[in-house]
Amino acid sequence: IKPPASILFIFGGSGDLNQRKLAPALFNLFIDNWMPEKFAVIGLGRTEYSNDKFRNHLFDGIQEFSRRKGESNDKWAGFSEHVSYLQMDASDPEAYHKMSDVVKQYEEEWGVHANVIFYLAVAPQLVPDIATKLGALKWCKDSQTVRIVVEKPFGHDLKSARELNSLLNSIFTEDQIYRIDHYLGKETVQNILALRFANALFEPIWNRNYIDHIQITAAETVGVEDRGGYYEQSGALRDMVQNHILQLLCMIAMEAPVNFDANEIRNKKTDVLNAIRPISRDQVHEYAVRGQYSHGWMKGTKVQAYRQEKSVNPKSNTETFAAAKFFIDNWRWQGVPIYVRTGKFMHQKSTIISIEFKQAPHYAFPQEAADSFRPNRLTISIQPEMDIRLRFQAKRPGQSMTLNPVDMIFSYKDAYDGHEPEAYETLLLDVMEGNPTQFMRADQVEAGWKVVMPIIEAWEARPPVDFPNYAPDSWGPEDAEALIARDGHNWVSLP
Ligand code: BG6
Repeated sequence: IKPPASILFIFGGSGDLNQRKLAPALFNLFIDNWMPEKFAVIGLGRTEYSNDKFRNHLFDGIQEFSRRKGESNDKWAGFSEHVSYLQMDASDPEAYHKMSDVVKQYEEEWGVHANVIFYLAVAPQLVPDIATKLGALKWCKDSQTVRIVVEKPFGHDLKSARELNSLLNSIFTEDQIYRIDHYLGKETVQNILALRFANALFEPIWNRNYIDHIQITAAETVGVEDRGGYYEQSGALRDMVQNHILQLLCMIAMEAPVNFDANEIRNKKTDVLNAIRPISRDQVHEYAVRGQYSHGWMKGTKVQAYRQEKSVNPKSNTETFAAAKFFIDNWRWQGVPIYVRTGKFMHQKSTIISIEFKQAPHYAFPQEAADSFRPNRLTISIQPEMDIRLRFQAKRPGQSMTLNPVDMIFSYKDAYDGHEPEAYETLLLDVMEGNPTQFMRADQVEAGWKVVMPIIEAWEARPPVDFPNYAPDSWGPEDAEALIARDGHNWVSLP
């Protein structure tokens, strides 16, 4: 079923996010026949654009960034009829009445009461002001049809996230607020729930009795690119751990939901965040490692150090790599360490979750088979490879009893046609349908901040002495190896 008639206002309409992600996603939904019968996409911005020029600007983005790149261009004319541009200064309260006129006009034309979605693809400091001005429009109180989408970063720390939540909650009901974490829209991430809760096989062993430890790696091969200004205020912990990585952790560690109700799922995830053992500030050095890249070579190309990047302080202490060890204090996970790491300019682009099982309790095999015993491991590759691998021991063919580990692999590429929707497609459709399951509730965001605050505070209080401390095209600083080696483990080598 298609979503009901929808009017999407995109603040920051002429910006990067719209061109790279939102417009391609909406166009793909249109191609796949998921857009409502009646819809309008209205880009808002200060830049002057005619409708045609704006449409061309979005089309250029689609040619460059869409997963379909250049396919189905014959559908563009049909889609672009729904797209227009409204020049407005978002800081001028009067300008907001233009939006009321637009809504009225479409509703009259369509003869229905439409959904209205405000997508705030703007710098975070503009969010409070825009939200407040929207709140002054009486019709925005309609919690059934009016929704606001807020991009990350959601706050800069726990305090600012709380302030932003309380401001938004004073204007909109929680049901109207869609805080995006685009990782939750990824197919392979959503599949974690299917893997765990649609199969009888995994759940009985998904606990401290059988699982030795868990690893989550989100490695990128890009540096900060042209986002130095933003990244300086952020760093790897705020940019990736507080949100994306903790959300992956929630999917892996949550209890089984009773149903797919949005709050049921989010309650179960929030329980995980609330159960993460607080790290005391004086123990942070045992539990977390930070890094910053130096100049060097990345796949044969010379790259500059983080401190030399555009809009970055030449003495910057911002981390471009973070690793941490967490424990979840509940019955299921007591004593199971969870290691996470993320970094820019890593050796390989890969987001994977690896569940490391305990050794078999007893090996009855002859001595010569002994060297190759490996515990079972379930690896969930989120991206760019999309697969799930289960490692188990097999007998190597031959006359001796020699064991070696083998992989049983489920690959998206082989099983399906390889045209998975992108995260933004899924999430935009959810917003139009009014389904907040894959969006962050206020308490989830705050719980995420609570987890990382001690690390942030300890790092800020004690500037690093060894930055830059890792070379591009590596796996980050040596301390990250030591963090996990102290417990007798290694980071998994990526497939
Ligand atoms: C964003 C971060 O949220 O996620 C970026 O701000 C990061 O720094 C990006 O590169 C990674 O997203 P993906 O989908 O490419 O893994």
